[in-house]
Amino acid sequence: MRVLGIETSCDETAASVVTDAGHVLSDVVHSQVDVHAPYGGIVPELASRDHLHNIRFVVGGALRKANVSLAAIDGIAVTCRPGLTGALMVGVETAKGLAWAAEKPIVGVDHLVGHLVAAHLEFDPEKPAPKPPLPFIGLIASGGHTALYRVDGLDADSIRELGATRDDAAGEAFDKVAKLLGLGYPGGPVVDRLASEGDARAITLSKPMPQHASLEFSFSGLKSNVARWVSEHGRPGDDRVLRDLCAAFQRRVVDTLVNKAMHAAERENVGAVVLGGGVAANRELRRRAAEKARDAGLALFVPPFRACTDNAAMIAFAGVQRFRRGANDAGRVEVSARTILPRVTRKGRGARLA
Ligand code: KG4
Ligand code: ZN
Repeated sequence: MRVLGIETSCDETAASVVTDAGHVLSDVVHSQVDVHAPYGGIVPELASRDHLHNIRFVVGGALRKANVSLAAIDGIAVTCRPGLTGALMVGVETAKGLAWAAEKPIVGVDHLVGHLVAAHLEFDPEKPAPKPPLPFIGLIASGGHTALYRVDGLDADSIRELGATRDDAAGEAFDKVAKLLGLGYPGGPVVDRLASEGDARAITLSKPMPQHASLEFSFSGLKSNVARWVSEHGRPGDDRVLRDLCAAFQRRVVDTLVNKAMHAAERENVGAVVLGGGVAANRELRRRAAEKARDAGLALFVPPFRACTDNAAMIAFAGVQRFRRGANDAGRVEVSARTILPRVTRKGRGARLA
């Protein structure tokens, strides 16, 4: 089976062809970072327009690189939730049009399910990477989402949220702190680089949602803490203090993500942890997670960077799982800003022990 995946939920226009074994035959991603950078964050209307402008080229490129025609595709999978409504609609309407014209089955896919199956993709069949056994704990940390899941199977009804952020996502915190410090957008990569040259112990910042028992996150207090520090001490120049501040902030975020992921594995009695989302590119997160997992006797799986950030290969493979069960949403793919995965965390509430 060869499935064409299409992803336009946020600021990447992506298309990919993946086999039912998870082999990635093509993986085309057009990033809109340059479009949004001048605004310091994503502008939804500009995202939709840019998707509209690029989607044909991106889908055409994915088919060409995979060396398959649309007629030879077995099904189309498209991200239909969660995300920016206008952006999602570009992908969904394109997928519907292609499915109708080529008489192919179509399934709508939840973007978060995509992130959670990404570690099962095979980018290089010559060098197959070990795949996480089921069940596993999935930590998604990106610009739009931060949550822990128990994953018993690779489809939505086998995935359970254990805890999510009550306010900002981890990547959003990186981006907001970078903006505060005048470091541009997106903030993650630059904070990552500066933090590696700083001393996290030089500046003390608050711990985000430190309650050991809670699997929920909250990063807005930490961001406010950095803002307060800057208003008291002034915005640092390109110096040692800037590096120390980045290191102190990053240490708090990384510790929280890693400790809660390990705690989830212990609580659920699960032996494997999978990282995903753009923040999983963070070098300190990768290093600390590897250390802690080794100490706890857990297997850690971190997909290659291109599978962590938004892409359509993960959407195609989530689609494979649905096609395997005979699904076909022909004509009925609806767009939604919300995930299909039941939420146990209510946004904007104070700490709740769970
Ligand atoms: O998954 P992603 O590409 O897009 C979504 O938000 O869905 O994640 C982008 C986020 C941004 O907030 C960016 O600042 C963050 O991932 N990010 C990082 C790093 N690289 C990207 N955060 C921390 N360290 C990094 N090296
Ligand atoms: Zn994402």
